[in-house]
Amino acid sequence: MKFKITTALLLTVLGAQAQKVDVPTSFKNAAIQTGILIKNVDSARKEKPNFVSPRTVENGKLKMVVSRDWTSGFFPGELWYFYEYNKDSKWLELAKKYTEDIKKEQFTTTTHDLGFMIYCPFGAGYRLTKDTAYRSVIVQAAKSLSTRFNAKAGVIRSWDHSGTKWKYPVIIDNMMNLELLFEASKFTGDSSFYKIAVTHANNTIKNHYRPDFSSFHVVDYDTENGGVLQKTTAQGYANESSWARGQAWGLYGFTLCYRYTKNPVYLAQADAIAKYILNNKSTPADGIPYWDYNDPQIPNVSRDASAAAITASALYELAKYSKNAKTYKAAADKILYSLSTAYTSKIGDNYGFILEHSTGHRPNNSEIDVPINYADYYYLEALLRYDGKFNFK
Ligand code: GLY
Repeated sequence: MKFKITTALLLTVLGAQAQKVDVPTSFKNAAIQTGILIKNVDSARKEKPNFVSPRTVENGKLKMVVSRDWTSGFFPGELWYFYEYNKDSKWLELAKKYTEDIKKEQFTTTTHDLGFMIYCPFGAGYRLTKDTAYRSVIVQAAKSLSTRFNAKAGVIRSWDHSGTKWKYPVIIDNMMNLELLFEASKFTGDSSFYKIAVTHANNTIKNHYRPDFSSFHVVDYDTENGGVLQKTTAQGYANESSWARGQAWGLYGFTLCYRYTKNPVYLAQADAIAKYILNNKSTPADGIPYWDYNDPQIPNVSRDASAAAITASALYELAKYSKNAKTYKAAADKILYSLSTAYTSKIGDNYGFILEHSTGHRPNNSEIDVPINYADYYYLEALLRYDGKFNFK
């Protein structure tokens, strides 16, 4: 798809060209913050050992979560990224230690979030150490995730909760879990993981996207006949609105589908989603979107730095495949520059979380304008991808 350059996009890109991201300083500051976070995590775990990973700051306090929480893998995933960046054995030992705490989730079959929980830490662990024990965990997690695929609907079920609202809910976030299936297929030669991943991706293109390539959040399927029952939201402003993080998950998800399949349909989808995101007029000049592109209270609502970090990381990868490489790199640089200069915590603040100003679940009135672990994880990933030196995915 050829990119149509609008004024908004041109301003974004021109603004970005002047801004060089200082990766070494950003990593240095992030490492100091994460050292502080680790101390806070260790002291919280003395009181409640089952609460293994830091998620956010809630009511002024560090919020820890159990390994079953969908965000549990981001913290150990970040520790692997520090090791990847500086090859310091201190980070290797920390990454190994905190990754172990998530291991039992490889057997979980009651959520789709295994890509986040397992693939983020174990995928990096295997990539960086070649320890086959990590590979086994990934394969088992892919088996667990595959149990949630329904052949009639052709998609993986996301949530088991909220049975009164949805019969078979599939959320756009689910695209992120396909990486686990593609990798497991590579490791084992078992094409069933691959087939599930592409079937899910194809049905997501068909049912989750609007003509302007914005995405619904939740699509509810009828498993009797494979039809769609309803298209709604859980975390966005409205059923018809574009929840910012959902757009970012879709962009990243179809980019990774292209990485594994080289199917041009996925590249075209990712290009079209990028166009939607980058041309969106509601996003301020610094490139960090409001939590939902269609909240009528804009500009008096919270931003979502996590959506920005996911988008930047995805754009760096998409730039490797797309004709629009220059535009994507410039837009990602702009976002990353903003995050690394205006959205980072002051050293010592926020219990050691790296970024501020994310929005987790606004309709629930929770996690509004806070630090959050997945913003930090994708920020570090984007920093690693910035200059192509760590060409890992
Ligand atoms: N996957 C849940 C979220 O993005 O909040």
